[in-house]
Amino acid sequence: MKKIKNITVVGTGVIGAGWIARFLSHGYQVTAYDPAPGAEEKLNASLKDLWPTLIESDIAKEEHLQNLSFETNLKEAVENADFIQENVPEREDIKRQVLAEIDGLTKVDAIISSSTSGYMPSLLQKDCKHPERVIVSHPFNPVYIIPLVEVVGGEQTDPEVVLRAQALFEAVDMKPLIVRNEIDGHIGDRLMEAIWREALHIVNDGIATTEEVDASIIYGPGLRWALMGPFLTLHLAGGDQGMRHMLHQFGPALKLPWTKLEAPELTDELADKVITGCEAQTEGQDMAQLEKRRDEFLVKLTDLVEDYWPGANLGGRL
Ligand SMILES: NC(=O)c1ccc[n+]([C@@H]2O[C@H](COP(=O)([O-])OP(=O)(O)OC[C@H]3O[C@@H](n4cnc5c(N)ncnc54)[C@H](O)[C@@H]3O)[C@@H](O)[C@H]2O)c1
Repeated sequence: MKKIKNITVVGTGVIGAGWIARFLSHGYQVTAYDPAPGAEEKLNASLKDLWPTLIESDIAKEEHLQNLSFETNLKEAVENADFIQENVPEREDIKRQVLAEIDGLTKVDAIISSSTSGYMPSLLQKDCKHPERVIVSHPFNPVYIIPLVEVVGGEQTDPEVVLRAQALFEAVDMKPLIVRNEIDGHIGDRLMEAIWREALHIVNDGIATTEEVDASIIYGPGLRWALMGPFLTLHLAGGDQGMRHMLHQFGPALKLPWTKLEAPELTDELADKVITGCEAQTEGQDMAQLEKRRDEFLVKLTDLVEDYWPGANLGGRL
């Protein structure tokens, strides 16, 4: 597998700067490009702000910052790159135009990767002459700390390209989640968007304030999700029978107006997928062991919330 050495980051806003910090902190040579006036100064200022935390956390060294160069010419920025991460605004026309432009200027075996939050790679690669090297790598803010990156290939993507990107992300201590079937919003954003839309309904209908909605996550499900995600969290809420009992008890609630989103039909096939999935995830561990691990984790996590933000969102202020 060809090794990736030179990385170019196109668009140096919130996410572009985050990728730059992630790659630099792992010793990569990074070229940055952004045509906006003052973009270089803004990038340097944001790296200067976040670098001390990365040093204190043993993630980065001071000298890593010297491996950054800034280009104002796109051709010069991308022509020697092995991997290009695109982070321009989330608009289909801009993305497709910039990706096609990059495609025309790079080595044919360079990987072109988009940070898009929602577009499918099959759409974004349409105007490229070499669509086989175009993928989506969707990160989460702040990219230099959050490990998850969703890697998605399109209809025309060479599967080898996904593997090369996966190896790069593992080399910078990320957790690449390969999304095998592309969908709008990938996986993480699909889930976040569902909560976001519900949160907006709740505020819009005058049910609760933004502060109360935030508290309902910070002190509750948010803590558990940090360890187990939506499936195992509920598996442990089903007693000895786990998800099997959970579905039996709460399956009918899928028909109640508990959400403004419509639930899928709870068919036997879906129930079986969910139950066997949870059982496979926890194979070899009994419920008591899982509960103990979750509880220890939650005690530490709630302490952390209190350390960093006492009374968070229940009248407390940062
Ligand atoms: N903000 C998030 O939490 C988040 C998380 C994951 C993914 N994303 C995705 O990352 C991408 C960037 O989002 P952001 O939040 O960093 O936006 P942003 O507005 O902070 O940054 C966009 C940057 O793109 C630059 N730009 C505009 N036109 C350009 C061009 N033609 N060539 C190069 N650069 C250009 C702008 O000058 C700006 O610096 C979007 O696709 C977004 O969906 C955002």
